[in-house]
Amino acid sequence: MNIAVIGCGYVGLVSGTCLASLGHNVIGVDVDKRRVDSLGRGEVPIYEPGLSELITTQAAQGRLKFTTDTAMAVQKSSTIFVAVGTPPSPAGGADLSMLFASVDEIARHANSAKTLVIKSTVPPGTGEEVARRVKDAKHKIEVVNNPEFLREGTAIQDFMQPDRIVFGANTTEGLAVLREIFQPLIDRGFAIFSMSRASAEMSKFAANAMLAMRISFVNELSMLAANIGADIESVRVGIGTDKRIGPGFLKAGVGYGGSCFPKDVAALVYQMQQFGIEPYLLGGVEKVNQRQKLVFARRILQSVKDCPKPQIAIWGLAFKSDTDDMREAPSVDIIRSLVSAGAIVKAYDPQGMANARKILGDAIVWTGGLDECTRDTDAVALVTDWPEFITQDWKHIASLMRGKHIFDGRNCLASGKVTEAGLYYHAVGRPELEPGSGRPGSMGVVAAG
Ligand SMILES: NC(=O)c1ccc[n+]([C@@H]2O[C@H](COP(=O)([O-])OP(=O)(O)OC[C@H]3O[C@@H](n4cnc5c(N)ncnc54)[C@H](O)[C@@H]3O)[C@@H](O)[C@H]2O)c1
Repeated sequence: MNIAVIGCGYVGLVSGTCLASLGHNVIGVDVDKRRVDSLGRGEVPIYEPGLSELITTQAAQGRLKFTTDTAMAVQKSSTIFVAVGTPPSPAGGADLSMLFASVDEIARHANSAKTLVIKSTVPPGTGEEVARRVKDAKHKIEVVNNPEFLREGTAIQDFMQPDRIVFGANTTEGLAVLREIFQPLIDRGFAIFSMSRASAEMSKFAANAMLAMRISFVNELSMLAANIGADIESVRVGIGTDKRIGPGFLKAGVGYGGSCFPKDVAALVYQMQQFGIEPYLLGGVEKVNQRQKLVFARRILQSVKDCPKPQIAIWGLAFKSDTDDMREAPSVDIIRSLVSAGAIVKAYDPQGMANARKILGDAIVWTGGLDECTRDTDAVALVTDWPEFITQDWKHIASLMRGKHIFDGRNCLASGKVTEAGLYYHAVGRPELEPGSGRPGSMGVVAAG
């Protein structure tokens, strides 16, 4: 099938490339000319493991092209995916202006009947509004929804080996097109769920809100655990092994971030309020998340309160490992709290530095590696769980530091190794450990999301 994908960001690029690898002819469209030019040169503007290689292969086989020319892409394609951003709007809710702009362009340029697949995450009911916008187009435009559940860092695997694929269509024609596109994955046995457009839209929001809720749930409990001497990591295993609960997204830390959870929870809260429904639960999810970042910063400041000009190393800036995405990254609020309290912050991230610099500017000291970041600091705070941070030689780290405090914002470090090196270990919702001490009753590492 000839497919256009409008928007070559994380979702558009990954979906377009994966659709090409399923055998479709794909034209990726973006308004950002620099982005399209760099893709044309084989340079991938985002960091996503495996994506660059897959784009190169698909482009070489002639199945994947990039352009800024929406009209051409729409006219050459029978199906158009829209994967533009739907950021938070200042009034609350989702800003759908980019989505509507591309929908209007599709309607204007359509030269035959088309299927418009909304891939962007949109508030339930948006498909209805899009259908109204395109109903007077010269040619029939069928509007369907196909929410994307990929996670940055494992995006290709998530697209090609999904837990499920959701088809949101209000007509059998729309459903048939989606089936044809995803037939190679249907043949491989992946689960497909067909439902109404509004249900598909809501499924995406509900999934993100549920995951955010689990994170805030465990983060709220982590505060109590810290006060009563319980270990939230033990509690996590104690509950996560219950099949009714499951282990995913129960890791305490510095709070959720990224381009999806914060904005989707906020949009859901807003939409519920529009209908006069008080979002007791989701409002709390947001508040817990904000508090988690500030409490973490406060604890770091407390540990260096006797240093006249404290220096703090921030290990990791991206909202999670294996991405360069800084959108709503917890590191930003944490760093701003530290800086506004007078601390000198030095930071390092293997992939997120360029994007972080656009947000934080000259407020902090940018460093070229972990040693430089750590040297002469009073405290080190791990904020993103990059694997290279976890496998440190802690004696070496201790020798670089001026102070002795390690803050593990992701509960991912081997605490015994840290304290063995003569350092204090502070985690989230776990007892504080002094230099040389071990963790009583430690249950070790358990795989969980
Ligand atoms: N990033 C994720 O992990 C993820 C996962 C699932 C769903 N989503 C959803 O997918 C959507 C896209 O997210 P993203 O992270 O890929 O966004 P992004 O900001 O990385 O990419 C969007 C791209 O669309 C382009 N664009 C904007 N208007 C355009 C237009 N009129 N024509 C052509 N191109 C246009 C922008 O230049 C940009 O390159 C959002 O709704 C998001 O919530 C994101």
